[in-house]
Amino acid sequence: MITLTDIAYVRSGAADLAAATRFATEIVGLELAAPAEAGVAHLRADHRHHCLALVEGPSGVLSSGFTVADSGALEAAETELERSGIAVRRGSPEQSRSRRVREFIAFDDPFGNRVELVSQQETVARPVAFSRPAGITEFGHLCLDAPDVHEAHRFWSTRFSARVSDWIGDAACLMRIDPVHHKLAVFRGEEPGLCHMNFQVAAIDDVFRNWHFLTEHGVEIEMGPGRHPQSTAVYLYFLGPEGFTYEYSFGVRRIEDEASWVPRTFDPDEPGSIDMWLGPTTRPVTQPQVRAARPAATMAAVAAS
Ligand SMILES: [Fe+2]
Repeated sequence: MITLTDIAYVRSGAADLAAATRFATEIVGLELAAPAEAGVAHLRADHRHHCLALVEGPSGVLSSGFTVADSGALEAAETELERSGIAVRRGSPEQSRSRRVREFIAFDDPFGNRVELVSQQETVARPVAFSRPAGITEFGHLCLDAPDVHEAHRFWSTRFSARVSDWIGDAACLMRIDPVHHKLAVFRGEEPGLCHMNFQVAAIDDVFRNWHFLTEHGVEIEMGPGRHPQSTAVYLYFLGPEGFTYEYSFGVRRIEDEASWVPRTFDPDEPGSIDMWLGPTTRPVTQPQVRAARPAATMAAVAAS
């Protein structure tokens, strides 16, 4: 069993890096870290050096990172995954530097989502210099696609320390790795990809203020403002460049008493199961996973990203 201590980052390929970076800063509100690497924009939301890295190249999610306790835990995870037949690759020092972690390993989940486990993700003490006052407090959660959310749950809860908090029928599995109701979600989708990346905001007012801001700036609102009955979070999903869905939310439930929490099942077809305010609901756009393509030369290029 591999204990995940937190979510770390999302890496996403951007064909138009300048436009994707502009959106992440001027619209989403993230801080752009001082450029240290050609073709990579590191974006900051909280204590982490960055939680989103936009990498110049074909559009699509490259990987989702999770932290483990230390390098011993990383080594144990590597052994455990390899023993169970999962191909694991260890990141080079240069790749680790790009991720601002000491070490990392990479593998694909059974559905083709690229996952990275990292040790010693860099913390930055300086306050975040947000590009606009969106009210962001932290990187809240990430959501992956899988054709069978029950299979995905089996993977994340048997090999890893994720626990289901609630089910939305066969459509979604919301999992926690700490008291936050969910930091990892899996939505049903035929192909692997990143369904969305969530940022928590400080107040319900921020959700609504951001809604007006996004609307005024012609950003496509996918869903919300609404309120999820599972996490009780007030949410707003919107579409960024290259099919990358962002979410702001406020008020996510915390599960402090592990022993007494019983996961619930909501029927997605039942009114109110996605939005308890009964607003219109749509499935957020998923950014497809960039797949390692043959021949070997291309594999090496993808591995380097
Ligand atoms: Fe979400």
